Amino acid sequence: MSRPLPDELLKVPHRRDVPFARLTTLGVGGLCRWLFEPTTETEAQAFVRACAREKLPYRVLGGGSNLVVLDDIEVPVLRLAFPKAVRREGGSLTAPANHGHIALAEAAGQAGLSGLEFASGIPGSLGGAIRMNAGAYGREWIDVLTRYRFLTPEGDLVEKAPEPGEFRYRWSWLTGGRVVLSATAVLAEGDPARIQAQVAEYRQKRGTSQPLSKRNAGCIFKNPPGQSAGRLIDQAGLKGLRIGDAEVSPEHANFLVNHGHATAAEFAELMDRVRTRVLETHGVELESEVEIWREDSPLTADGR
Ligand code: EPU
Repeated sequence: MSRPLPDELLKVPHRRDVPFARLTTLGVGGLCRWLFEPTTETEAQAFVRACAREKLPYRVLGGGSNLVVLDDIEVPVLRLAFPKAVRREGGSLTAPANHGHIALAEAAGQAGLSGLEFASGIPGSLGGAIRMNAGAYGREWIDVLTRYRFLTPEGDLVEKAPEPGEFRYRWSWLTGGRVVLSATAVLAEGDPARIQAQVAEYRQKRGTSQPLSKRNAGCIFKNPPGQSAGRLIDQAGLKGLRIGDAEVSPEHANFLVNHGHATAAEFAELMDRVRTRVLETHGVELESEVEIWREDSPLTADGR
């Protein structure tokens, strides 16, 4: 950042120069120059308000499991560090956005609540899952989400029920400087043994079809309507294509894995090659499902 950050921003807990290798599951990327970690909603609000006042762009980081960082990131990065308490009211569970997504699904199962089984294998934070409308096995967050709290880009706190147009396949409107703070899911009373059995089945399915023992960022490309990106990449003969330590997984072609020392540049090149070959072979343009951060990329459609 060439200009100094305002004092009100620097009052929010923060760290300097944290490698993205430690902040993402894929384990590549440069340095996070400014990592802000508010421990309360008030601190998070102070962060967003200060940035809004200064017209300072910022990025929001969750569990880093669906993110490929290609450079050092100079703009302030916000990662919530709220206490991870889950509140139950009847069949509803409310948790802070930084709560572990898998941990929340497990807490629901242990409480005998059914509805989050689909989430039990999806890593990352709850906020990231809401922001992406994460899903698996035909279910997604919008199926269970009843309320959510977020900060507007101006730093106003809003709590509301989801409305049509706000969530779609792997997409929500919670970008553009909006910050998810917490979410409530409405679940059904269920038999803990049956919930556990369903979770075990999903885990087994994922474990056999996805390279979960290697560092990865989940599926890299969105499924084009009516098609499977994994199958298209597979049919293009790209499984096992490797650049340095970055490889198209031989287990599931829509996963790129880091064998240990891959660099951001290797991943960028591998993604380009996959996209180009799938276009040549199938005439289909693949769109990233993972979020990609580069220092010079527009932060979101409206510049944040
Ligand atoms: N397939 C291949 N070759 C491959 C991979 C898959 O031929 O290398 C075929 C499979 O045999 C199957 C079809 O493609 O017939 C679909 O594959 P799969 O069941 O693995 O599901 P997917 O569409 O590739 C989606 C989500 C996953 C989620 C699974 C399970 C997307 C982009 N992917 O994968 O989500 O775990 O369904 O519900 O929506 C993620 O979002 O990061 C992610 C991994």
